[in-house]
Amino acid sequence: MLDTIRLDDAASEAVIIDQTLLPAEVRELRLRTPEDFYDAILRLAVRGAPAIGIAAAYGIYLSVKDLDTEDFGEFRKALMRNHEYLNSSRPTAVNLRWALDRMKDVLDQSSGLPVGKVKELLKSESESIAREDAEMCESIGKHALGLLHPGMGVLTHCNAGRLATGGIGTATAGVYLAEREGYGLRVYCDETRPLLQGARLTAFELSASGVDTTLICDNMASYIMSEGLIDIVFTGCDRVAANGDAANKIGTLSVAVNARHYGIPFYICAPSSTIDLACPTGKNIPIEERDAAEVTTMWYKDSMAPDNIKVRNPAFDVTPAELITGIITEKGILHPPYQETLLL
Ligand code: MRU
Repeated sequence: MLDTIRLDDAASEAVIIDQTLLPAEVRELRLRTPEDFYDAILRLAVRGAPAIGIAAAYGIYLSVKDLDTEDFGEFRKALMRNHEYLNSSRPTAVNLRWALDRMKDVLDQSSGLPVGKVKELLKSESESIAREDAEMCESIGKHALGLLHPGMGVLTHCNAGRLATGGIGTATAGVYLAEREGYGLRVYCDETRPLLQGARLTAFELSASGVDTTLICDNMASYIMSEGLIDIVFTGCDRVAANGDAANKIGTLSVAVNARHYGIPFYICAPSSTIDLACPTGKNIPIEERDAAEVTTMWYKDSMAPDNIKVRNPAFDVTPAELITGIITEKGILHPPYQETLLL
């Protein structure tokens, strides 16, 4: 499988897999200008909280790489303009702001250095963000592996896999490591309406890796649980608030409610770049609302709903902390009370 996102050899463009075309076509897309990055993030050509963060970091570096100035103030102004611009591309995943702020910190610590040197430091920081994300995925996977046993049924929602990160994913990390050990897991993927990241992306990447993968519609998950086929739920996350409430792709909340009903452990998998201690509770997490066409027309030859029908299209929901069995980060598995364990 190609890299989800990388800097090209000349470090002059970022190369992503255009996820809007999957699974029918695996095509790379090259991003250079801030507008390229903004558009790719907005259209979900690159998506998933950690991958959005990595894209933003590369976007910042490339936005100032060829800037023809030796004036630090002018350089700073340009970088901050792009910081604000890229930060406005999507609101919910905190990894976006986290990565942009890491790039800004490099700038803040570089005052007085020649602009050429600052450019080098920014490049190296963007590469560190990508490398560290891959390492965090691996560590999340090791912790998740401890919860798995051969033959288990795992349910996941949306795509928190390779295509959402710089590594083996978050929710999928334990699955990939278990498969290396020959666990023979059965993974159920919710298709994840309305944009079908579960069907188009998770089902694609897991089955391509040889994992026993079954696709279900979102509204089938409770029935499959009632049949006793699901032993554990792993989902990703776009922002964990300080009290442990967690925003993730729309539909995650109902998976968590159903899992509680059937006594199935429900785990959120998230690198520490997804934890936002400045956000007190889930009520403070901004929820992206997207175009109605994603619900009514995008996947259909003809509109599947009456013309001019009122539509809501929130892209995320918030699962309250009390429904979350544990939060798996690169540091270990956190349990309630999250307002205390998230601080460790
Ligand atoms: O709208 P998307 O596709 O960016 O939403 C993705 C999710 O909700 C993922 O579960 C989350 O970003 C975690 S990715 C490791």
